[in-house]
Amino acid sequence: MKKIGIIVGSLRQNSLNKQLAEKFVKIGHPELEFSFIDIKELPLFSEDLEENPPSAVVQMRKDIQKVDTVLFMVPEYNRSVSGVLKNAIDWASRPYNQGCLKGKNAAMAGVAYGMAGTAVAQSHLRSILPVVGMNLIQQPEMYITYKEGIWEDEKTSAFFKSFLKALAQ
Ligand code: FNR
Repeated sequence: MKKIGIIVGSLRQNSLNKQLAEKFVKIGHPELEFSFIDIKELPLFSEDLEENPPSAVVQMRKDIQKVDTVLFMVPEYNRSVSGVLKNAIDWASRPYNQGCLKGKNAAMAGVAYGMAGTAVAQSHLRSILPVVGMNLIQQPEMYITYKEGIWEDEKTSAFFKSFLKALAQ
């Protein structure tokens, strides 16, 4: 059984990326156990806070330590990752070279209204992950353009299943 910790890079109540994550959990896979890792209470990172990290940081680090793979749900903001997602990664990457992401598997997926389907943001995240010591599950790439009824679409669900199969390997 592989433990997958999901970090949703949007704090929005009706986030499409949260909806996509919930769809993954709903489809599920016999070899995967999912949990959501909360990042909404994290303060903005400052090295001044590192000596006595706030409780939300301590909790997030514990939650990451428990999982095998972190699945990043990646909204695209101005052709990059959202600030809240980058803030969470910065907190999790510290102390330098001993961050809780080191040695973990990473996977990513994203959904947006635009045709690029978060590809540019995910490409930025792809360049961040090796720096924090993560091993990225490269395929399949998951760039989704949102359309009405997408969560009920069978062809799209089959694609989601292939993604979950890759996480289980
Ligand atoms: C966006 N959006 C957006 N979409 C996109 O495809 N490329 C982009 O560069 C941007 N840039 C951007 C910047 C900012 C500040 C906002 C608020 C939005 C639209 C974005 O993809 C859309 O709001 C998604 O719905 C955000 O993801 P969640 O919150 O639905 O998960």
